[in-house]
Amino acid sequence: MAKKRILSGMRPTGKLHLGHYYGVIQNWLKLQKEYDCYFFVADWHALTTDYASPGAIKESTREMVLDWLAAGIDPNEAVLFRQSAVKEHAELFVLLSMITPLSWLERNPTYKEQLHEVSDKDLHTFGFLGYPVLQTADIIIYKAEVVPVGIDQAPHLELSREITRRFNFLYGEVFPEPQTMLTEVPKILGTDGRKMSKSYNNAVFLSDSPKVIEQKLLSMVTDTARKRRTDPGSPDLCPFYLTYHVLFSDLQTKEWVRQGCAAAGIGCIECKKSVVPRVLADLEPIQARRAELEKDPEMVNAILGAGGALASAVAGVTMAEVRKAIRLE
Ligand code: TRP
Ligand code: SF4
Repeated sequence: MAKKRILSGMRPTGKLHLGHYYGVIQNWLKLQKEYDCYFFVADWHALTTDYASPGAIKESTREMVLDWLAAGIDPNEAVLFRQSAVKEHAELFVLLSMITPLSWLERNPTYKEQLHEVSDKDLHTFGFLGYPVLQTADIIIYKAEVVPVGIDQAPHLELSREITRRFNFLYGEVFPEPQTMLTEVPKILGTDGRKMSKSYNNAVFLSDSPKVIEQKLLSMVTDTARKRRTDPGSPDLCPFYLTYHVLFSDLQTKEWVRQGCAAAGIGCIECKKSVVPRVLADLEPIQARRAELEKDPEMVNAILGAGGALASAVAGVTMAEVRKAIRLE
């Protein structure tokens, strides 16, 4: 039986951090073996928020794709490309924009939240409101059946399904309705205890040197109730434990931490040091592969170029069908 097609994208944010790796990339690594995967860099989507300062997008794309490859995303298993290289996304976006009611976009919770929260940029633009319409085009232009995303993207996917249904209702059954595959994302907290995010400046990057990684881990916040070495602590309230021990430590180590922390038998530095080598060991092969890949400066462009050509071919076939369905051709 033919493999089901999966599509997923990431905005180009530059070097990946542990949150991306354990939350998204590890899932992609599994999926690329089981499905017909299309993974792309959503560089036009980056413009919806960064239109006034687009200068970093190109380099961020390169850094991000280097990390994809270093982490094991395989261009022979998955089609890797840049959104802006496949102009058909823009054509389908225009056509979908004709049939998408404004009210659907205006009630999108992500839209309302971001308008409210982001104060350093003016997001009252047509492109930002239309973000989910472009995202729908990204997905259905490949007739993707499954879209793996985190819970934060679920409302966008629901909109995509609605837009797809409306298209099929108006013009005939051209597209499969994309199914949401919710990715279980482990809780990865940054050095300040908030969710790990580049914009919070609390991230541990895959390509940080072992020394920097160790420094970041050793300086991470712990259970705030544990002010002195003699104070007992609660691992379940400790951002360090919840991220690093939960993810990397074996049962025995976790038990040692739980008892030692609750009884003030171990100090935080000792506790942290017990897991640092495991984190470094996990990242070592990724870092080695990245160093190898960086030796060939043309590699990323070549991979994205080949992926873009393949994606364009598929998107082109869909668009011929779409123009016919709308009776433009
Ligand atoms: N909106 C997604 C994000 O910010 C990126 C994205 C764009 C996407 N188009 C997509 C994800 C299509 C899945 C499918 O993470
Ligand atoms: Fe956290 Fe470990 Fe310190 Fe307890 S001992 S507060 S689990 S870092």
